[in-house]
Amino acid sequence: MVASNDFFEKKKNWSLLKDQIIENYLKPYIAKILFTRKPLVIVDCFAGKGKFDDEKFGSPLIIAEHIKTVLESDAYLNKMIKAIFIEKKYFRELEENLKGYKGCYSLEGSFEHHIQSISRISKNSNLFLYVDPYGIKSLDFSNFKALAERSFHTTELLMNFNSFGFLREGARLLKYESLLEEFDDFDYELDDKNSIENMNRIAAGDYWQEILTKKSNGEISMFKAEEYFMKEYSKKIQKIYNYSVNIPIRKKTEQLPKYRLIFGTNHKDGLFLMVEQMNKAWKEILDNARGGMKILFEEFLFPDMTVMSHFDVEADILNSLSVEREILYEDLLVKLIEKYGISYYEKEYREKIKGFEKKNKLVVRRNPPHTPKGKPSRSWDFKKFKIYLRSK
Ligand SMILES: C[S@@+](CC[C@H](N)C(=O)[O-])C[C@H]1O[C@@H](n2cnc3c(N)ncnc32)[C@H](O)[C@@H]1O
Repeated sequence: MVASNDFFEKKKNWSLLKDQIIENYLKPYIAKILFTRKPLVIVDCFAGKGKFDDEKFGSPLIIAEHIKTVLESDAYLNKMIKAIFIEKKYFRELEENLKGYKGCYSLEGSFEHHIQSISRISKNSNLFLYVDPYGIKSLDFSNFKALAERSFHTTELLMNFNSFGFLREGARLLKYESLLEEFDDFDYELDDKNSIENMNRIAAGDYWQEILTKKSNGEISMFKAEEYFMKEYSKKIQKIYNYSVNIPIRKKTEQLPKYRLIFGTNHKDGLFLMVEQMNKAWKEILDNARGGMKILFEEFLFPDMTVMSHFDVEADILNSLSVEREILYEDLLVKLIEKYGISYYEKEYREKIKGFEKKNKLVVRRNPPHTPKGKPSRSWDFKKFKIYLRSK
């Protein structure tokens, strides 16, 4: 089965989820970035038609609406925002659907072909890359590396990565026929022109082959194979972005993630903002606060890493602290996010840490130690105070 043929007929539930995430993130992200007084360029690298045949908005129209809000609102002093949409097959539909939206430009052809035009965007700009392909075959890692290393004012990446699809394609190319059965009811792309070399380029290494060999020998489960693969791939992402998080989107009926959303940024603030927004979006879905989200609530699981791998967040907090050396609160948060993804957000970690402080298990030191009024600071605002933690 090729996942792509009927993609735009009707928005699938797992697409709804992804769109909810980008929708939730864009508003605070745009507000924060435009505050830098530099231009923001959003590049939707695999844009699609713009909207689905059932009229639901796809990523291009979601992005275009956000730009429209900025351009029409008095609340934004900096209006230097635009979006570039790249689409290979449905360019005409995309252009038609984007008609009338200002600041939106579409490019016909492949992402790979247009990489040069993206890298020519002024370095003075903030760049947000949205990467939402059908499968994995166009995700040559060196393209993302080149863009990340071009030193734009800031760069962020949100990528839909079909890790299971990658492993399925890898098994096919390595001729592990018996493994293919395990992927039977999954959407994936088939491409006879694909090669092991191309898979190495996508994964930025050949480590995936050893993982599949272990799986083929019966040494590990498919669940573990996916986990190991993502661990290695995440290391590659961490080489080009200072901070990253990946969010497994899993159906209740399946143990393996349908896809993973990978987010990379060079700024801690970007990471914190993403985690908070994603966490909020998911909790809204779980609380079933919006009627329209009911279906998602019934079908998908909150991407709770604590459930996936039996982690212990309280032990991790305490183990990250040492008696001799202090750790910055925000650096501890980054460590926890790298492990727990969007399972928690800052306030929840903070409450646990405050609990430990009360029980005398750790010491908190703030710099400056006092508020402007001269009172000892109790603040957890790590933008205003340097907050250091150590074990007792
Ligand atoms: C999953 S869809 C994108 C959906 C879109 N994000 C949305 O929310 O509506 C992937 C799109 O990428 C296009 N495409 C496939 N290969 C491409 C490539 N190499 N470069 C650019 N676009 C490509 C496909 O035609 C398809 O429209």
